[in-house]
Amino acid sequence: MFYQTTISCRILAKTYNKSIMKILIILLSLFIFHLKSDTDSNYQEELIIEIINKTMKNLKNTLQTALKDGNIVEAIKICSSQAQDLTMLNNTEKTSIKRISLKYRNPANKPTKKEELILKSFEEKLQSGIEFNDLVFKQTITNYKEKTFTYIKAIPVKEVCLNCHGDNVSKKVLKQIKINYPNDKAIGFNLGEIRGAFSVRHTFN
Ligand code: HEC
Repeated sequence: MFYQTTISCRILAKTYNKSIMKILIILLSLFIFHLKSDTDSNYQEELIIEIINKTMKNLKNTLQTALKDGNIVEAIKICSSQAQDLTMLNNTEKTSIKRISLKYRNPANKPTKKEELILKSFEEKLQSGIEFNDLVFKQTITNYKEKTFTYIKAIPVKEVCLNCHGDNVSKKVLKQIKINYPNDKAIGFNLGEIRGAFSVRHTFN
């Protein structure tokens, strides 16, 4: 009797231990998976920031070269033909980058409904005193095995931008803008305001 009880106790303990082990292993792998997906998101974010910085640098260089001889009208022509291509230069099958604005010049840069809401929330945040650099929206949506990472970062109005986006744009420049963009809305901006944003969509596993 005693012998039998010890055996069944041992079996019980064994199965009990096994179940505990199983649960522990499941918990551990969940934890590791969680860690992994977290570091993945951080890695993806770093990638996106790198792409945005690269694109911004490209655009800035082109703008600076175009403005070098002070001919803004000529610069508009260059911007018109190159900005869109430069923005999309780093697009891949998995990553798309574009510029958006509530007051857009190029209709191709019109925000989607969701982007419009985010841009409006940036405006409110800036009004409430949040630092410009913190005007960032991040979201990861998981769909089956694929994740979609959305990253939207506000672009500030700097001094040089006022030549073509300010409220005191010269008549000559304005005329050229109207020729290229008859429905232009991207005028009347002040220093430090939100000119628009980079909007990046990136899918990964
Ligand atoms: C020489 C004139 C000129 C200057 C200076 C200029 N832009 Fe633009 N900008 C344009 C033109 C033309 C477009 C439309 C073509 C395009 O980029 O798609 C545009 C479009 C944009 C867009 C895309 C949204 C939209 O309205 O279509 C953003 C964002 C933007 N500019 C930001 C800036 C910022 C920030 C600066 C200053 C660092 C700046 N621009 C300086 C001419 C200019």
